[in-house]
Amino acid sequence: MTEIRPYRAHDLEALYAICLKTGLAGADATALYRDPKLIGHVYAGPYMALSPDCAFVVEDESGVGGYIIGALDTYAFEKRLETEWWPALRVKCADAAFIPRGEQTWDQRMSTLIHHPVRTPRRISENYPSHLHINLLPRLQGQGWGKRLIDRWLETMKKNGSRGVHLGVGAVNARAVDFYRAYGFEEIERTGPPFDVIFFGLRLGASETTG
Ligand SMILES: CC(C)(COP(=O)(O)OP(=O)(O)OC[C@H]1O[C@@H](n2cnc3c(N)ncnc32)[C@H](O)[C@@H]1OP(=O)(O)O)[C@@H](O)C(=O)NCCC(=O)NCCS
Repeated sequence: MTEIRPYRAHDLEALYAICLKTGLAGADATALYRDPKLIGHVYAGPYMALSPDCAFVVEDESGVGGYIIGALDTYAFEKRLETEWWPALRVKCADAAFIPRGEQTWDQRMSTLIHHPVRTPRRISENYPSHLHINLLPRLQGQGWGKRLIDRWLETMKKNGSRGVHLGVGAVNARAVDFYRAYGFEEIERTGPPFDVIFFGLRLGASETTG
C-alpha cells in the first residue's frame, strides 16, 4: 500500500537520497556531486531540522519515495537558517564564491549557496509567506501523488493561518512547471539567466478551522 504520512526523524536519510536523485531539474544528480549530502544540506536538511511539522512523505512497499517540505513563514525560516543551520556547515565547506559560477563544480555551487544563501524577496514572501519543495522518485511520479502531497500540505498551511504559498522552479524543469500550472499555481515572477527560476504562487483563503 502507498500512503502519505507525516515526516518522522528516521526518514531523514531517505529524504537526503531523494533530494539527490531528483536534484538536477527533476533528474538524478548523483553523478554530479563528490559529497552526496551537500545538495540535501541546502534543499532538504534545514526543513527537517527547523520545520519538521511542515514535512510529509509518501511511502510504499519499497520505502519512502517522495516528500513535500517547506516553511509556514519563509521570512522567519530564513532568519533562523542564519543562526541555526548555515554556521555549522560554513565551518565544514569552503566558500567558493570567488570562482565564476560557470567554472564551479556542483559541490562548489552548493558551498556558495551555503555561504551566500539567496533570500526570498519580501515582495514575494509578504503575499505568499509559506514555501514548499516537492520531490518524488520516478517510481512514484505520474500517479497523482504530487497532487495529493500538495493538497495535504496546503491543508496544513491553511490550518496554521497562511494566506499564501510560493515556490521556485528552474524553467528547464518543464515537467514540474506544467505540473504546478495544472495544479492552479500562478507565475509571480521570473529571474532570468543564469538561474532562470520561475516563482509560482497560490493564495489561500482563511480556514474555518483556524483558531
Ligand atoms: C513534479 C512532480 C512533483 C509532479 O508530481 P506527480 O505525482 O508526478 O504529478 P501528478 O501525477 O500528481 O500530476 C497531477 C496532475 O498534474 C498535471 N501534470 C502532471 N505532470 C504534467 C505534465 N508533465 N504536463 C502537464 N500536466 C501535468 C496533470 O493534470 C496531472 O493530472 P492527471 O494525472 O489527471 O493528468 C514529480 O513529477 C516530481 O517529483 N518530479 C521530480 C522532482 C521535481 O522536479 N520536483 C520539483 C522541483 S521544483
